Amino acid sequence: MENSRKVILAYSGGVDTSACIPYLKNQYKVDEVIAFAADLGQGEELEPIRKKALLAGATESLVEDLIEPFIQDFAFPAIRANALYEGRYPLSTALARPLIASRLVEIALNRDAEAVAHGCTGKGNDQVRFDLAIASLAPQLKIFAPARQWSMSREELILYGEKYGIPAPVSKKSPYSIDLNLLGRSIEAGSLEDPFLEPPEEVFQLTSSIKESPEEPKEIEITFEQGYPVSIDGEVLDPVSLMRRANSLAGKHGFGRIDMIENRVVGIKSREIYESPGLLLLIKCHQEIESLTLSADVLRTKRQLERQWADLVYQGFWFSPLKNALDSFINTTQIDVNGKVKVKLHKGNAIITGRQSSSNSLYLPDISTYGAEDTFDHKSAEGFIYIWGLANRLWASVTRKNKF
Ligand code: ARG
Repeated sequence: MENSRKVILAYSGGVDTSACIPYLKNQYKVDEVIAFAADLGQGEELEPIRKKALLAGATESLVEDLIEPFIQDFAFPAIRANALYEGRYPLSTALARPLIASRLVEIALNRDAEAVAHGCTGKGNDQVRFDLAIASLAPQLKIFAPARQWSMSREELILYGEKYGIPAPVSKKSPYSIDLNLLGRSIEAGSLEDPFLEPPEEVFQLTSSIKESPEEPKEIEITFEQGYPVSIDGEVLDPVSLMRRANSLAGKHGFGRIDMIENRVVGIKSREIYESPGLLLLIKCHQEIESLTLSADVLRTKRQLERQWADLVYQGFWFSPLKNALDSFINTTQIDVNGKVKVKLHKGNAIITGRQSSSNSLYLPDISTYGAEDTFDHKSAEGFIYIWGLANRLWASVTRKNKF
């Protein structure tokens, strides 16, 4: 069509993103809506979702497998960064957004579209991540977020959809809001909105309960090269297979559940349940191999910057100058992060039982030992402590003079 107004829509197959299709056409006067759905290892069949977009009136419906770049370019850097938002959440949802946004932008630019659209509401973090990523990659593109504009209740939305050929959800919808991909599941809403209520077992799918998990512990070994996990129990695995293996091992033993009150970008506190068995296990083991191979000052500085890295990714600044600068620091440190970690999985726990690095261990036995091979110069400690504590001694000699 000449001068046809085109939009690329991030499409999930849900009620909201489906309603976006007629809404963009009717209210935003868009001629062509191109739906885009990504396979991020959520284990969901995407062909029905692709068809659903067409049924709802999309001109075209694209589905792409992005699992490999998701793990390689987003999850693995997060492992190197030991990224845990507020010390706990491994960003399983957050990491997917800049990847989806970058594909939306590429498609929009290729097709000469005027805007990128998404179905996020105004209360969440994902709208922030999409909007900021899109704006950082292609500031000239418009962003349409119909769900921030309409004021329809869920019931009204379903009715609106039905008018345009979008079937109402067949089964009684789960009371939870769930986001999932190969890095884990995030579960919100329903009864979970009471922060004092224990999450019912039904919300979990990737992790066993303590009760159901095996009585016998399972010890495994994870090997890292330059901060990247490369093998489990000596078997070299590509990033996607490694993530799958880590998920199933940790999940089987009930490791990887999180129940937290989280601070969203928009200022709201929310109660979040996550299960992210593989990613949490890999981060834990990665921290451990770093403790053996990085110097104390690099480690301390990195731990501070890791927090900032996680905040940036959570808050939508994947594509930003500060994130780039932090990546450079992290990448430099990871050259030395080589070795393996032994970890015992048992009843919801991942207990580190050993770490080893033949090339980069800074734990040197003849210096660390209490045995006869000790080469540490004990006498030097006296002079060291004299100077180390000199300022304190001066302070004490002045302030305590008259008190004893
Ligand atoms: N709070 C998480 C984040 O901001 C997950 C958001 C999506 N979760 C969901 N159940 N819809 O990354």
